[in-house]
Amino acid sequence: MPAIICTSIVMVTRKMRSRNQQLGCVLALRFLALILWGVLGARALDNGLARTPTMGWLHWERFMCNLDCQEEPDSCISEQLFMQMAELMVSDGWKDAGYEYVCIDDCWMAPQRDSEGRLQADPQRFPGGIRRLANYVHSKGLKLGIYADVGYKTCAGFPGSFGYYDIDAQTFADWGVDLLKFDGCHCDSIKHLADGYKYMSLALNRTGRSIVYSCEWPLYMWPFHKPNYTKIRQYCNHWRNYADIYDSWESVKNILDWTASNQEKIVNVAGPGGWNDPDMLVIGNFGLSWDQQITQMALWAIMAAPLLMSNDLRQISPQARTLLQDKDVIAINQDPLGKQGYRLRKDNNIEVWERPLSNSAWAVAMRNLREIGGPLSYMIRVSSLGRGVACNPGCFITQLLPMKTELGFYDWTSSLKTRINPTGTVLLRLQDRLYHKV
Ligand SMILES: *[C@@H]1O[C@H](CO)[C@@H](O)[C@H](O)[C@H]1NC(C)=O
Ligand SMILES: *[C@@H]1O[C@H](CO)[C@@H](O)[C@H](O)[C@H]1NC(C)=O
Repeated sequence: MPAIICTSIVMVTRKMRSRNQQLGCVLALRFLALILWGVLGARALDNGLARTPTMGWLHWERFMCNLDCQEEPDSCISEQLFMQMAELMVSDGWKDAGYEYVCIDDCWMAPQRDSEGRLQADPQRFPGGIRRLANYVHSKGLKLGIYADVGYKTCAGFPGSFGYYDIDAQTFADWGVDLLKFDGCHCDSIKHLADGYKYMSLALNRTGRSIVYSCEWPLYMWPFHKPNYTKIRQYCNHWRNYADIYDSWESVKNILDWTASNQEKIVNVAGPGGWNDPDMLVIGNFGLSWDQQITQMALWAIMAAPLLMSNDLRQISPQARTLLQDKDVIAINQDPLGKQGYRLRKDNNIEVWERPLSNSAWAVAMRNLREIGGPLSYMIRVSSLGRGVACNPGCFITQLLPMKTELGFYDWTSSLKTRINPTGTVLLRLQDRLYHKV
């Protein structure tokens, strides 16, 4: 594990007393650390896509499988929903902020394949068909995502792709689809699951069209045995590990707990071309308090997670929009080094997470786990952050969330004091002074 190797080397250097010698050694170590990370990074799916985590919008959490366009024309799964979201993504600054993929989830299909065995969109709800929707989305400078399932049926019971992988891949390519979310319901064996996910990856490749491949392979694999992430990364651009997100704090907490508990298995495998997917952003909906929305945004940035919002862009508070479009936080999520962050420590009431960034910068998130009382004061030695190199010999610290504030210069021996709201997070960016642009 590179984390352990690097930490122990840094601990050795702390015993060296000469400052100059220490700086030289630390710079050398920083280089060594990069090499170690690089060597251990597994080969990614070679389709040139998802070099940074995918950003966009996905209908599931907010709109689910609403088929009733008579009663609820504005929230049923129809071409109109996706066209409206595409329009707003351009007019309300989402596209400029980096959100690019407009993604359809389950329940877009007609109940039967056509006479040639091809999937077809429900003719009432998608009268123009998917190809025309793709053209519309492309005309806005955006990309279209679609959904299918590796098994006999989708999770909601629509036609599955088992036995039709080549036809379905070609259909999606013909329509001009840019991303496939491939679910794992109704698959009758672990072998079919693994073979199906692999086969579909190759089938998409054979179409010659660039299609981001979003898998749920490890999620459906975990009940049987530990997924081989090295292999999954060779076939998928991102992969879901854990249960669907709900619009609740309980759900966000469970995802974070699962991620931290499994970080030795999943963090190192993430990188350009392949990402762990903790599921959609539910910011802008009903279930999270303001501080909890900040926690989701901050931690999804630390986790190098795909940023797929599931909310109603027609009705979203200015506050939620500002958070989702925060350039500094998105820059952390999209950092070109592409290293996923991890939980550094957990005290009674506080969790500290950190993520290495390009140009020797680090992102640090401190969560207040308490769900009672007021803001909690927390003090941490900056020397304990960023594998001991982030603030050696010093660093500039900018608080990005909950509000952007320049905190100034901290030297190696100093401590940082923050106050964190219950269930909230303080997100920081630590920048090496050598690179600080002032
Ligand atoms: C298909 O895979 C090959 C190598 O495995 C890669 O060079 C090529 O770009 C891929 N094509 C697409 C469309 O993803
Ligand atoms: C995981 O998959 C990789 C790539 O296919 C393979 O080289 C490796 O042996 C596998 N590991 C295990 C434990 O099966």
